[in-house]
Amino acid sequence: MSRKITGATAVAGVAGAPVRHSLSPIIHNAWIAAAEIDAVYVPFAPCGDDFHRFAEGLRGGVIRGLNVTVPFKEAALSVSDDVSERAALAGAVNLLVFDEDGRITGDNVDGLGLLGAFAAQAPDFDPKAGPVVIIGAGGAARGAAAAFIAAGAPEVRIINRTLAKAEIVAGALGRRARAYSLNGAAIAFEEVTAVINATSAGLSQETLDLPLDATPKAAIVMDMTYKPLDTPFLKQAQTLQRRTVDGLEMLIGQAGPSFEAFFGRTPPKSVDVRALCIEALGAKA
Ligand code: ATR
Repeated sequence: MSRKITGATAVAGVAGAPVRHSLSPIIHNAWIAAAEIDAVYVPFAPCGDDFHRFAEGLRGGVIRGLNVTVPFKEAALSVSDDVSERAALAGAVNLLVFDEDGRITGDNVDGLGLLGAFAAQAPDFDPKAGPVVIIGAGGAARGAAAAFIAAGAPEVRIINRTLAKAEIVAGALGRRARAYSLNGAAIAFEEVTAVINATSAGLSQETLDLPLDATPKAAIVMDMTYKPLDTPFLKQAQTLQRRTVDGLEMLIGQAGPSFEAFFGRTPPKSVDVRALCIEALGAKA
């Protein structure tokens, strides 16, 4: 497939470090081609990891917008002139929109991606039906917890290796959130409807050793990590006959609202971006 780039071609992209293996260019360029939009979506690795300098240089008509990934989600929040309520609650921005007048608006659509992944892979899941566990207390966990609270979860239990960090996150989220240490996981798992791994353990090939057998049989287990797609955490859940939701579906779930923000169009359904991503993941293995 060859595409003509002209002076009129719109540009959007993803910024991260590393960004080389990002699947976002695969997803967005497939949608751009299928929707026949005059646009291109490119990866950026900001020089010297200086996200501020990089983003400042893009103000005013250079680019439609950016997805922002590790480790720049907090820097993206502080570079934004306006921040959505959900991004402020998450303490992180994963979507920047650059308007023609030079303003930068920060949003966080990871929560939409997370709920979208449940809707796609566990359609009967109801966030209002019972307590939900989030493992981790970094930006990803904060975003997930905020999304479940906004979706009406009666209780969000935050389990973290460093209890003090879980307490800070729970404190910021209000009376429906509670903090637990890893040792308290078996208690936190009682009566939950879903368990979400939002730690970065998988990125460093570390595995979480948690008593998933303490969850109810009907609990759904989700891992935000998608390399590999079947993480050790999801495999453990499958061995215990728990249903699972994967992180790739969340990535695709947050790409949809990003595409709409960049190009004002909903992503075309005619292209199977999940299959393209799985092919790319396989090719790298
Ligand atoms: P992100 O912005 O992606 O959420 P982060 O802010 O670095 O990343 O947070 C990473 C989270 O993963 C933290 O909650 C961290 O626990 P600590 O607060 O105790 O550091 C958690 N984490 C990372 N590696 C882990 C491991 N091997 N076991 C358990 N938790 C881990």
